[in-house]
Amino acid sequence: MRKLPINTPKPSDTASGLSGTQAYHDSAWKHVSGKARYIDDLPEPEGLLHAAVGQSTHAHARVTAMDLDAVRNYPGVVEVMTVNDVPGHTDIGPVFPGDPVLAGDLVEHVGQPLFAVAATSHRAARQAARLAKVSYEPLPTALTAQEALEQKLFVRPDHTQLRGDPDKALAEAPHRLQGEMNVGGQEHFYLEGQACLVEPTEDAGVFVHTSSQHPSEVQKLVAEVLGLAIHEVQVEVRRMGGGFGGKETQAAPLACISALLARKTGRPVKYRMARADDMVQTGKRHDFYNTYDIGFDEQGVLRGADIMVAGRCGFSPDLSDAIVDRAMFHSDNGYSLGEARVVGHRCKTHTVSNTAFRGFGGPQGMMIIERAMDDIARYLGEDPLDIRKRNLYGPGRDVTHYGQKIEQHLLPDMIEKLEVSSDYRKRRAEITHFNKTSQILKRGLSLTPVKFGISFTAQHLNQAGALVHVYTDGSIHLNHGGTEMGQGLFIKVAQVVASAFQVDLDRVKVSATRTDKVPNTSPTAASSGTDLNGMAALDACEKIKQRLVDFAAEAHGVSAEDIAFENNTVRVGDQRIDWADFVQQAYMARVSLSSNGFYSTPKIHYDRATGQGRPFLYFANGVACSEVVVDTLTGEYKVLRTDILHDAGQSLNPAVDIGQIEGGFVQGMGWLTTEELVYNKEGRLLSNGPATYKIPAVSDAPADFRVELLPASPNPESTVFRSKAVGEPPLMLAMSVWSAMRDAIASVADYRYSPPLDTPATPERVLGAITTTRRWAAEQTATTEKPVSQEA
Ligand code: MTE
Ligand code: HPA
Ligand code: MOS
Repeated sequence: MRKLPINTPKPSDTASGLSGTQAYHDSAWKHVSGKARYIDDLPEPEGLLHAAVGQSTHAHARVTAMDLDAVRNYPGVVEVMTVNDVPGHTDIGPVFPGDPVLAGDLVEHVGQPLFAVAATSHRAARQAARLAKVSYEPLPTALTAQEALEQKLFVRPDHTQLRGDPDKALAEAPHRLQGEMNVGGQEHFYLEGQACLVEPTEDAGVFVHTSSQHPSEVQKLVAEVLGLAIHEVQVEVRRMGGGFGGKETQAAPLACISALLARKTGRPVKYRMARADDMVQTGKRHDFYNTYDIGFDEQGVLRGADIMVAGRCGFSPDLSDAIVDRAMFHSDNGYSLGEARVVGHRCKTHTVSNTAFRGFGGPQGMMIIERAMDDIARYLGEDPLDIRKRNLYGPGRDVTHYGQKIEQHLLPDMIEKLEVSSDYRKRRAEITHFNKTSQILKRGLSLTPVKFGISFTAQHLNQAGALVHVYTDGSIHLNHGGTEMGQGLFIKVAQVVASAFQVDLDRVKVSATRTDKVPNTSPTAASSGTDLNGMAALDACEKIKQRLVDFAAEAHGVSAEDIAFENNTVRVGDQRIDWADFVQQAYMARVSLSSNGFYSTPKIHYDRATGQGRPFLYFANGVACSEVVVDTLTGEYKVLRTDILHDAGQSLNPAVDIGQIEGGFVQGMGWLTTEELVYNKEGRLLSNGPATYKIPAVSDAPADFRVELLPASPNPESTVFRSKAVGEPPLMLAMSVWSAMRDAIASVADYRYSPPLDTPATPERVLGAITTTRRWAAEQTATTEKPVSQEA
């Protein structure tokens, strides 16, 4: 294969591809040529069997009988297993129990696996799995967050964060508003569906190839269901064709089921879900029902807030405790709430267990305060941007409702910059004029900020390990605990290693993530992959460098200060030694050229008993300004232009970071506009394929899309080369699109009314909001009463 060019010109005095340069993704060429191997592309081992599961057809029921004879007798079927055949643990809940690997006599969502089949072909396994005769005794269901709230069904206890006396602040505030909204869920729609391949090993164990963000958890759960020690199980993840949070916990059940079948049959087993099964059987982004009660002054500045966020968790806890926590931590977005109470509920419903999805509850929490900002603006008759600016955190208004002090105030300046570069005020005036004269088409504009907390909120997950080998030809092999899902983690960490030794990037090779190389890893999640693994890799490099310096100082009789790593050489006193020659000398002198590295994030803590602490090492920030046009006859819309200014700290790779921003924004747009999960009243997902579930196409991206990184903005915290995490935060920049749509709709009542607009804001919902807004305008009599935000 052709060698990848490094697309930053090589300055003659430094090595190429170092941190800060726009090196191509290490698999870019393989991605676009189809040579990158995903699980289903691996050569199939001799005797391979294919797995499928029988699925519950009821949302909540007792299973009274299960006749599997027809399944067993189907041609090609080799093995059929139920929960009674599991030798070890039967519960594979990742944090809390509640996820049976195969259901017993109770099913709690449509699609729940009842039994597992291994057959000689993918098709035979799926056909056979449909032939079971299962008898159910239906039980009552709760399908939505509101139903669960009414029935007091929760997967975990609620949690409250309190600052000051919000009741008093609300009672005494000059103005007060209430509102509520439903924020939709989201299917991950990774291009590579869930898949794994499990091979029994020589001894009792198994080797697992999986498309998972969390190989160590897959390893542990597979060991537990098989009743083995963790060291009997090896897990490898080369890459995922997208994860987006959907492979943090959701890959493990496939691996466990395949491992059970592989151990039972003694044959390798592949389990690749068909798209429709993947959509029905694996968790999605939580939809939320949120409410606010806010008090503010004449300027629209918040004095107090009482916010409730309720996530639909599905039938089991999965990661929902942390996800609803993150929604609570982000219900302020970039604004000081004043004296505040934030309550979070984890609603139990008889639907698939919802899970991590880019932003991890943060986006759903932010939506309620962004709605409030628009509502205040309409109430006071001001431009929503002015209300947003006045409410931003700043010196003196810098403590969140959970007690973390905001130490870096980037948003005021970033908004100011984008306001100018996007021509906000001029376009605002043009749009106001356009909307006065245009009857059918209405345009809307909005500029919204993002402040996103970086660190896992579960403290122990903020750790990482790495393994670096330097070989005698000067080439370097790198392993770390992070997984590659397209986000560019591997190339960024490789750039860190190249920078540590000051050698060309093509001397560094990153290989598949494996549990026997770096143990006990955290999931690649919370946008922290580079922060954690980059630092761990740097630690490993520093250890090797120290040994090399000690060796050179002694061998050449110079002091350590006279040794430097520079442009593929090592300068030892007056000598410049080629990197590879130097490494060879160190080898001959019996210097260890391999090291592990470790990192754990400093400063962070959170006390759940008091709801106070510093859960985040720092915040990532971004601002977006979007303009939309809405057809008021059909509710259809288009994003005309989006300007983004995003803070990636001292970017390790501006090209990769801008790709994350563009991709995150478009994925967020899809979430807030067209991607609708529709369940029927029996709890069956109707939108279970691309024909009924609409992710954004390239033609849906803003026609005019201008993305820039905030220049000269090193992270004040000592992260790897002062960079900032970039994976999740840009998704929330898409709130500007939703807010711009509300702006366009508000124009039909001359901006005096704040239209409710639940998400996804499909054309149907937009049309409904237009109707509501027009009706409100028509009902207005000559009263002098102030308009308020109202629900449809
Ligand atoms: N980018 C691509 N191309 N594919 C993905 O699956 N996942 C996102 C984000 N960007 C994802 C992505 C999510 S949910 C997270 S948490 C981060 O990448 C994880 O990687 P990082 O920590 O290395 O940024
Ligand atoms: N983000 C993403 N994934 C997680 C987190 C988090 O904060 N906590 C546990 N898994
Ligand atoms: Mo990302 S939702 O933290 O995998």
